[in-house]
Amino acid sequence: MHIKKIVDDVYRVSVNVEDKNYLFEGIWPIPHGISINGYLIKGEKNVLIDLTQNIFDFPKEFTRQIEGAKLEVEDIDILVINHMEPDHSGWLREFCKKNTKAVIYCTKKAIPLLQAFSDVPAERAIAITDGMELTVGDYELQFFETPNIHWPETMMTYERKRKILFSCDAFGCYGNIEEDKIFDDQISQEKHEFYESEALRYYANIVATFSSFVLRGLEKLKDLDIKIICPSHGIIWRDNPSVIINDYKRYAEYSKGPAERDVTIIWSSMYGNTKQVLNTIIEVLRKRDIPVHVYQAPGDDAGYVLASAWKSAGLIFCMPTYEYKMFPPMAQMIEELLVKKVTNKKVYRFGSFGWVGGAQKDFEAKTEKSGWDILGHYEWQGAPTEADQEAIRTAVEGYCDTLIDFTK
Ligand code: FEO
Repeated sequence: MHIKKIVDDVYRVSVNVEDKNYLFEGIWPIPHGISINGYLIKGEKNVLIDLTQNIFDFPKEFTRQIEGAKLEVEDIDILVINHMEPDHSGWLREFCKKNTKAVIYCTKKAIPLLQAFSDVPAERAIAITDGMELTVGDYELQFFETPNIHWPETMMTYERKRKILFSCDAFGCYGNIEEDKIFDDQISQEKHEFYESEALRYYANIVATFSSFVLRGLEKLKDLDIKIICPSHGIIWRDNPSVIINDYKRYAEYSKGPAERDVTIIWSSMYGNTKQVLNTIIEVLRKRDIPVHVYQAPGDDAGYVLASAWKSAGLIFCMPTYEYKMFPPMAQMIEELLVKKVTNKKVYRFGSFGWVGGAQKDFEAKTEKSGWDILGHYEWQGAPTEADQEAIRTAVEGYCDTLIDFTK
């Protein structure tokens, strides 16, 4: 990857995570990778906005790209740390050993983290205040606190003359970036659709819990004239930044419901008796033209299930009783949905039991504070009979009526 000019003397430095087995945040699969972007402003004083994680050869690669702008790491005068999560600050410890003069601009909450994560003393940093301006030669920077997008100390940096927003995690997505396709106007419609789906998955995995902060952040930034969005993950939006702004607004508003007129089915089965009703449910949903997404627990990764559940107005759980409670892998999946604040959903549950039930009672207790509207459940003993299948058809028809009313 080479350093890329964005406009005037503003450049992107970036790396891609190429290891298909790497888990982002140690949890989330990223088979298509993720880019980690920093931004360099070269001028009377040289500014670097955000660093990179200290994995693979990423610090070396950032150094090489900075040298591509005919600068050394030691030439950076101002280091802006929008966010202290180690995917953006992992290089900080070594950077500050090499460059002993750069002044760090970050939020007050980030200052103790400089020491905690990177052994960098507070004396090297200036705590910004919300809206604070900093003129650096021809560049007019302004800092905005945007807490919890994605951790409490996060901020964004705006360049007022060129109307560039360096948004850090916000407006980011999974997916590696190709060498000469870094801007939204350089990629195909198909690639846009790919990044859109990777943005949803990134949002559901990383940001969703903080959706109320996203809405607050968007409100705060609404009067900024934004011509270019430079996120710390993903492509740069210079042709139509409103696309990703509107995507993020839509994702955040899903938390308040209703989301899209889709249903995510998550199913588990021990001996196939719950699995036997799956096709009946899917057939009814499809007959009603409701898009349906099907995941198995265990089997499908929670990162993918979360993205689907986040955008779906409806959730259907198919799960048997196991030792008087919910089938354990499903219980874990539901816990994951609740941690990520997947809320305001229309919900139904189907499931078999053998000797005695218990899953439904456990399900209701564990989802009591979920914000889910549980419309009903249907259980049967052993294998489902034709009468059970018919009752399930009727239940799903009724479920569809409510869902369509909810989303129209
Ligand atoms: Fe990309 Fe919250 O770090």
